[in-house]
Amino acid sequence: MNRKYRKTVIAGNWKMNQVASGVKPFIEELKENLPKQKSCDIVLCTPAVMVPAMIKAGKDAKVAAGAQDVSKHAKGAKYCIVGHSERRQYHGEDDMLVNAKAKALLEKGIIPIICVGESLEQREMDLTMEYVSYQVKAALYGIDASALRRCIIAYEPIWAIGTGKTATAEQAQEVCEGIRTVIRKMYGARPARAVSILYGGSMNAKNAAELLAQPDIDGGLIGGASLKPVDFAAIVAATNQDAE
Ligand code: PGA
Repeated sequence: MNRKYRKTVIAGNWKMNQVASGVKPFIEELKENLPKQKSCDIVLCTPAVMVPAMIKAGKDAKVAAGAQDVSKHAKGAKYCIVGHSERRQYHGEDDMLVNAKAKALLEKGIIPIICVGESLEQREMDLTMEYVSYQVKAALYGIDASALRRCIIAYEPIWAIGTGKTATAEQAQEVCEGIRTVIRKMYGARPARAVSILYGGSMNAKNAAELLAQPDIDGGLIGGASLKPVDFAAIVAATNQDAE
């Protein structure tokens, strides 16, 4: 994390795992477990039908509502995930569509959380950085430097999502640093320094602190562990490590 230049973000990705009536009790339990002092922005991305419940319940706990995907045609929440590998894999979402969706969100004043990440095969073939660079360049195509300031990138190696297999802090740092280098080449040093890059893929209460201690990892996008208020609160607390 580098708080001087970037905000720290802990974002939960609930996928299809909750029901609307569970939102309020979840937030209440989360609130009880959150540290008094919070050093990050907290986001919970839910299926669209739960966004209103999250907006209502989250207000009190300073948890922002986010969505898990968006149509490129209109409307949304405060944050929205785009290009998640499960959408790319199961819904045929390509880089051009991810780019169109990110632009649609920016136009509506919604912060896109743009997911990128390699498969296990690509990692084994030593194609990680080439592939991730391509994804970043395509997703940001036509987005100017002022709009880039409102974008969040999430590096999520596909092999680490929902598998319990986390990238090591070194592996995650290496790619997040690489992503920042790509952005630096596209936009220059200042905009690159200001973009929050999250790590996602089996981040949990135990491994969060080490991942978040890396200089180019500015937060987390959390699936499984975001469903457990105590674990999610512990990840938020792990961002306190270098708070002034
Ligand atoms: P995970 O999911 O934390 O369960 O690995 C991350 C994600 O899908 O964004």
